[in-house]
This record gives sequence, structure tokens and C-alpha cells, in this order.
Amino acid sequence: MATKRVNQQAARHAPAGASKRRRSLEGATESFRILVLSGPNLQRLGKREPEIYGEQTLAQIHAELESLAAEHGARVDCRQSNYEGELVGWLGDAADAGFAGILINPGALTHYSYALHDAIKASGLPCVELHLSNPDAREEFRHTSVVAAVCVARVAGFGAGSYGLALLGLVESLKRSKGR
Ligand code: DQA
Repeated sequence: MATKRVNQQAARHAPAGASKRRRSLEGATESFRILVLSGPNLQRLGKREPEIYGEQTLAQIHAELESLAAEHGARVDCRQSNYEGELVGWLGDAADAGFAGILINPGALTHYSYALHDAIKASGLPCVELHLSNPDAREEFRHTSVVAAVCVARVAGFGAGSYGLALLGLVESLKRSKGR
């Protein structure tokens, strides 16, 4: 009851359209929108080195992520690109497009793309780095992540499950930070 009153007061004092997540008249809360990005070669999941990356395709991972997000009060917009510049563009537009946070599997760009590092930082949004494999347990060049320092967390080594775990972690921390 008290919470409802506070929300009603907040709604009265907020300028029109100020909060995209303001409670609606029914008392429901708009879901968090999460941008999910996958980098080079991840369009080949299912066919690409299944002993390392598993048998699920990226389309299947995206479909499962959509259901999981819906169960947890979020919505995902899943995209893949082989081009660094396209990923940088999506990161740059994310905040203005109303996303609350980002999940990114940068693929091999993880290990050398300062452009992605800068774009994640400049997005101003909480971002989780994720990997299907555990890069630290693989070849030496995969032990460096140039994006880790601008991400709030990293999930790696759970196969396709890394996407879902990263989503749950991000949504939980968004809920905590927005007092939900
Ligand atoms: C990867 C790990 C990277 O080292 C690799 O270049 C990939 C996939 C992963 O999800 O395990 O393309 O990001």
C-alpha cells in the first residue's frame, strides 16, 4: 500500500514521458530491455567446433533467452555481427534506444578490440561479458580480455548456458539497483 502511494506521488511529479519504466495504471512495471550481442563467427554455432562450443545454434540460444527473459521481467533484442564497426554502432545507440543493459559475447574481438572496449565504456550501460567456452583454459592469446575492465561481470565456460546465466545475473543486478 505504502509503495503504491509513493509510486503514485512519483508519477504525479515526474515530467511527462520522463521515465520509460514508470509503473503503468495497472501497477505493472515495464520490463528491462537488454541488448544481446554476439561477435564474429558465432553465427556458425552448432556447426563450429561443437566439441568446444556445443551443438545449439545461435537462433536456438536466442529463442531460449527470449523465454527466460520473459519469465524474469525482461525483454531481449539479440543480434550478431562479424563486423567490429557494426557492434560498435549498436553499442553506441543502445542507451538512446532505451536499453537498460547489455550482454556481449565479442568472440575473438574480446582479445584485441580496443574499439569495443571504448564503445562499451561510452555506452554508460552495465555490460556483462560472456563466453561459451572458458577462454582462460584455452590458448594463451585467449587469456587476455580487453573488454573485461569495462564490464560489470563475466560468465564463461557453461556452453550455451552462459547466455542464460549472464542474463539472470544482469537482470537481478538491475532489479537491485532500481529497487525492484
Ligand atoms: C568465445 C571465445 C573466444 O576466444 C573465441 O574467439 C570465440 C568464442 C566463446 O564464446 O567461448 O569466438 O567468445
